[in-house]
Parts: sequence; C-alpha cells; structure tokens
Amino acid sequence: MTDKATLTIGDKSYDLPILKGSTGPDVLDIRKVYAESDHFTFDPGFTSTASCESKITYIDGDAGVLLHRGYPIDQLAEKSSFLEVCYLLLNGELPKADEFAKFEHNITYHTMLHAQFDRFFEGFRRDAHPMAVMTGAVGALSAFYSDSINVDDPREREISAHRLIAKMPTIAARAYKYTVGQPFVSPRNDLSYSENFLRMCFAVPAEDWKPNPVLTRAMDRIFILHADHEQNASTSTVRLAGSSGAHPFACIAAGIACLWGPSHGGANQEALEMLETIGSVDNIKDYVQGVKDRKYKLMGFGHRVYKNFDPRAKVMQKTAHEVLGQLGHNNDPLLNVAQELEKVALNDPYFVDRKLYPNIDFYSGITLRAMGFPTNMFTVLFALARTVGWISQWKEMFEDPTRKIGRPRQLYTGATHRDYVPVESR
Ligand code: SDX
Repeated sequence: MTDKATLTIGDKSYDLPILKGSTGPDVLDIRKVYAESDHFTFDPGFTSTASCESKITYIDGDAGVLLHRGYPIDQLAEKSSFLEVCYLLLNGELPKADEFAKFEHNITYHTMLHAQFDRFFEGFRRDAHPMAVMTGAVGALSAFYSDSINVDDPREREISAHRLIAKMPTIAARAYKYTVGQPFVSPRNDLSYSENFLRMCFAVPAEDWKPNPVLTRAMDRIFILHADHEQNASTSTVRLAGSSGAHPFACIAAGIACLWGPSHGGANQEALEMLETIGSVDNIKDYVQGVKDRKYKLMGFGHRVYKNFDPRAKVMQKTAHEVLGQLGHNNDPLLNVAQELEKVALNDPYFVDRKLYPNIDFYSGITLRAMGFPTNMFTVLFALARTVGWISQWKEMFEDPTRKIGRPRQLYTGATHRDYVPVESR
C-alpha cells in the first residue's frame, strides 16, 4: 500500500506523504507544497481540505454516521445525558460515577453570573435578536472572569470550559427573558442542567413553575444532538480565533457569530419560518417548484458532509412526535407540512440527484416552538449546546504541541504593480 502520492508540475515531481486516520478518508500532507513547488493549493470552501487532526467527532456523510469519541449519536441521545456527553467530549471517555459527580458539581456551582453582569443586558434594546445579545454577552465574559483567561495554563483552560458550559444556559435564558420583558430567573442547584434552563426561561414570579419530565428529557436530547459536529463553519471559526492565542470567551463569541448565519445554525429559524410560509400541505407543490427555479433554498435540507440522512434528523423527528404528543399538538399543521414536504423532496429527482436530505434543523424548529420558544431563540439553543463542542475542539487545539497560527494564502487576481496618479491627472 503506497504511503505517498506524487505531485508533478512540469518536469518536477514532489512527494506528498499520505497520513492515515483510525477511520475515514486518508489525507495528503501538503504542508511542504508551497516551500518546495512555489504553488499554493486552492480550496475556498474547504470541500477537500482537512484543517486539523482531531479525536473528538467522526462523521461518515455517505453512511449517515455520527460518532462522538466513537459512540453513535443515536445511542448517546437515547442512553446518555447532555452533561455526560459534555464530559465525554471534553475528556475522551465516558465518566465513572465519581468522575461524573465531580464534573456535575463543578458545572452546577458555576451557573450563576456576576451580579453586575445582569446590568450588561440593559444596554440592548428589548427587541434585539437574542443572538445579538448572546454574541455581545459571551464576548463580555472575559471582562468579568479575567482570572481564567491565561490560555497557557491548563487549569485556567479547564475553569473557562466549565464556566462556559455552566453559564451559557443562564445567559441564554436572560437573553430570552430580556426580550419578552420578564424578570430574570436565577439558576437553582437542586435542578438538572436542562430542567434548570427550562425553569430560567419559563418560570414567572406570579406562579410556581412545574417541571415536565418529557420536555426536560426532550431539551436534554436536543442539546446532545447539537453538541459537536467535527470541523463545521463555527467550530472552524473557534479554532482559527484560538490559533492566535485568543482566550476562550472571545473564541466562543466568534463561534456564536458564525453560527448565526442562515446556512449554518440560523437554518433552524429559517426552516420553521419556511414551514409557516408554506402554511398547508396544499402549497407544497408550488413552494418546491420555487426551490427548483432557484428562487430560494429548502431550509433544513442539504448538508456539506451528509449525502444521506443526517442521523440527528431522525432522532429530532422522533423527539418532535414525543413533544407534540405530550403537549396534545399531534395535529400541528406545521408537523403535517414538514412530513409531507420531506416525503415530496425525498421522491423528487431534483433533491435525490443532489443528495439533499433533511438535516438537524428541519425538525428542531417544530419541537422548540411547541415547547414555547419563539423562533428567534432557536439558534441561541443551538449555540448553548454547541458551546461544549467548540470548547472541546479549542482545548484539543491548545493541547496540540504542533499548534500554529492559522494563516491561509490566496489566489490573487487583482491589479499588479502600478504607480500612484494624482487626481488632476485621472
Ligand atoms: C448546519 O457543517 C456542519 O456540520 C453544520 C451543522 C452542524 O451541526 O454544525 O450540521 C449544522 O449548519 C446544518 C445545515 C443547515 N443549513 C441549511 O439547512 C440551509 C439550507 N442548506 C444549504 O444552504 C446547503 O445545503 C448547505 C449550506 C447546508 C450545504 O451547502 P454545500 O455543501 O455548499 O452544497 P452546495 O451549495 O454546493 O449545493 C450542492 C447543490 C447545488 O445545486 P447545483 O447548483 O449544483 O445545481 O445542491 C443545491 C445547490 O443549489 N442545494 C440546495 C440546498 N442545498 C444545496 N438546493 C435547494 N435547497 C437546499 N437546501
């Protein structure tokens, strides 16, 4: 089996070592190509480029497989908890009972925010998009927790990771409460992670808040499904920001900003708004024709890596049915539209030929809306869950002794040298 490839340019040949992973495609090591051949490689959307070595998440897009540290996402969604998945992503192994108890205690006792931080939200208009609030608030954390931003100290890196995982629900719930004009609700140490979050979002002083175990389980499962996803756009943003030595609060704020895009994490809001635009099963045919006429994309469909079903979408669909059933919304018209739209798309050559399947964002919006979240909170929930993936990938990068600052080059097609021309001569 050859362990190298040969690149030939003109009359010169260059050896490219082939590096093998534990599974998935091998990679051509091109790190010396420019130095040896004076040529750059060119891959603007990184469709054929591995940006790093990682042990955290593996995706087989053709087989519709997603593994976190080797464990299949459907097993984790069914049998694990979000906090246990956080431990797994951060540390590489499922925790023993005492390890988990210590981790859970650390997270539970970091959920509060500095009292002064609550005033930070008052700088925003009440009608601000919660993702704008999240981007600003998380970026501001370093102004309140500057005792854990020395990125070269493993202990400070661990404290920042725990603080981010613990405080994101509190910040996200505040972003929601602020925009609906309700008082902030403080975290409670006697509640589980997801129960605590739902209470901070939906409890009001006027009455006692009653937990709903089905909704709590659904929330926890939704967080698990969104926890990490290899080198997606926002994770790559976090890694690139971190490669300069930027502290984790700044890097996670950069990841949140990237996730907000409609092609990425913003798609869950767009997908639900698309279903609302379609409105009824009768309108699906015309809407799909608009997609084929390239007027707009089918939001919640397609994926750079999955050319088969997104395994998370299947679990998301099952969760949607459970939640809607629990809430007595079995005949939610949007669920009927979504199911019929999926059936139409999966049988239409336009989508089949392009290998477009539902992704995680297709069913998440219906579920979250039924749970009481407004559409502008959907990407906030994605960011809350993805924080553990971002910080795990950031931590892995910092533990890599070969870490270098990310600095891509370009194919320059602009003006070549020319001298300045005074305005009177132009
Ligand atoms: C997430 O990367 C990750 O892992 C992301 C994520 C994560 O967990 O981090 O999984 C989360 O971002 C999921 C994706 C959410 N985005 C959407 O649902 C938005 C709609 N989807 C598209 O924007 C698109 O599918 C992307 C951005 C997700 C992927 O785009 P690619 O890989 O760059 O594919 P492409 O644009 O090259 O499309 C290939 C073809 C094109 O047709 P042709 O021009 O070749 O004829 O498929 C078409 C596209 O026009 N196409 C779609 C489509 N997605 C691609 N046509 C209609 N509807 C769509 N949704």
